[in-house]
Amino acid sequence: MTDKVAKLCTGVIYQVYLRSFYDGNGDGIGDLVGLREKLPAIADLGCDAIWINPCYPSPQHDHGYDISDYRSINPEYGTFADFLQLIEQAHAYGLQVLMDIVPNHCSVEHAWFQAALHSAPDSPERNRFIFRSGRGENGELPPNNWQSVFGGSAWSRITEPSGEAGQWYLHLFDSSQPDFNWRNPEVAQEFLSILNFWYDCGVDGFRIDVAHGNFKSADLGDDTSPDFPYSYNWRMWNQPEVHDIYRSWRACGDERGGKYLVGEVWLPAGVAKGEYVRPDELHQAFAFDLLVQPWKAPEMRAAIDFALTECAGNNFPAWALANHDVHRAVTRYGQNQVADNPSAAAMIAAGRNFAQTDIELGTRRALAAIALVLALPGSTFIYQGEELGLPEYLDIPDAARQDPIWLRSQGVDKGRDGCRIPLPWDAEKQNFGFSTAEKHTLWLPQPEWFAKYARSRQEKLSDSFLAKYRKLLKLRAEIFHPIGNLQWLSDKDVGNVLAFRAGRGVCVVNLAAQEFSVPSTWNLTNLAFNTAGGCQAEIIPANSASWYICENSAQ
Ligand code: NOJ
Repeated sequence: MTDKVAKLCTGVIYQVYLRSFYDGNGDGIGDLVGLREKLPAIADLGCDAIWINPCYPSPQHDHGYDISDYRSINPEYGTFADFLQLIEQAHAYGLQVLMDIVPNHCSVEHAWFQAALHSAPDSPERNRFIFRSGRGENGELPPNNWQSVFGGSAWSRITEPSGEAGQWYLHLFDSSQPDFNWRNPEVAQEFLSILNFWYDCGVDGFRIDVAHGNFKSADLGDDTSPDFPYSYNWRMWNQPEVHDIYRSWRACGDERGGKYLVGEVWLPAGVAKGEYVRPDELHQAFAFDLLVQPWKAPEMRAAIDFALTECAGNNFPAWALANHDVHRAVTRYGQNQVADNPSAAAMIAAGRNFAQTDIELGTRRALAAIALVLALPGSTFIYQGEELGLPEYLDIPDAARQDPIWLRSQGVDKGRDGCRIPLPWDAEKQNFGFSTAEKHTLWLPQPEWFAKYARSRQEKLSDSFLAKYRKLLKLRAEIFHPIGNLQWLSDKDVGNVLAFRAGRGVCVVNLAAQEFSVPSTWNLTNLAFNTAGGCQAEIIPANSASWYICENSAQ
């Protein structure tokens, strides 16, 4: 592993949801010029890299995850030259640049899919996707019972060039996102060529969208699980053939001087992802199990142990408490927790729970949670706006909602728009400084209460969420590096507390509603920081985390 890749495996990576980061040209949509302008804000936090959500040409039915051209830049976001300049500038700030690659599906506007629509059934053009004839007397029923992740059938029927109702194509997500046929070697070749195209531009690696997707069970048989359609459809995901893809991608990146690969592998909580991070596959996979845990020490500890064990010996996990698909951490941790021992589906639903929220409690917990994650061995991904302590915007007016999940579920599932709101940069400016566009013309509306969270306000306060976040990031490098293996200090039955040693430091998180007295046997005297402003080494306030420096703890 090269030094650059190793740095990312233990580094801090800032996730840029470009559409909502900063608008450089005043059209109400974030863009590359805006990102370039604000790179110092990311570098100042102490990050090692940025991951940019898909910025390729796309009709934006799933906000960039429906790609129509994998070798270009969406004109809404800028030009190709803007992108090259971004890479250059980011590198100058010491930030590596990760793109988002979407291999499971493209857009219906992609040239290959358009060619498929205009070709005959069984043609080579159709064979790049998963087309099948329908069931029923006249093929009027979908080829199987699979459900789309976004709701409804996973199949849509096309009209043949002759004008007759024709075959069906598979889409695990929106109908605007046809799935590639990875059993066709042409698809594998195409993606290797795409990776190389971006490596030639200086890109340092990729976040891989639905990395456990791509291959489907060869027979495309019905989902026969007893609780269909609410269970996990094992025929759609996690097929053994998927690992050949990542072996070839790893070899490709290694040949190109070492390129980093991290996979979005959303398997049900408790299902191992270890195979994805074998030494010749991806460097890391996101440890989503931790993200979906309730604010309870035993559950969180089990998720941490699980993630560490499944990649033991090879590497460390990629930790994340938020991203563009789940509710913001402040909101999740400020809500009533799901019942004990919930099903995997309930845990994942908890990531987008619309229950009443105690923002103050959520804010304390979110800061303690990031202190926990930053102390763990591995990399930490920070979703833009988390450093401001932004809550989810739950009450977006229905007419403004854009997420295909909202549209396909006819409003039953409100979707993910609330964590994708344009960032508040300056409380005193129009659109909180995100854009000079006319008010009310942003692609998603900002709530008035965003002013309180604006970076401009937080910069002026030494105890703001942002100031504390920054402090944690700075201390992380001093205390928890070089990275070492985690050793638990707390017994499993110590109560609602997590305590562990890693690197030169110890992290103790008190998840309880009362303060915690640190046992003297833990020998923790050198307090470096407490997230709630506590200043006694031996007392940890409720819902807060303390970091300690232990000079003699080199492992
Ligand atoms: C996962 C992405 O994070 C999400 O935003 C997207 O909708 C789906 N994959 C489909 O690409």
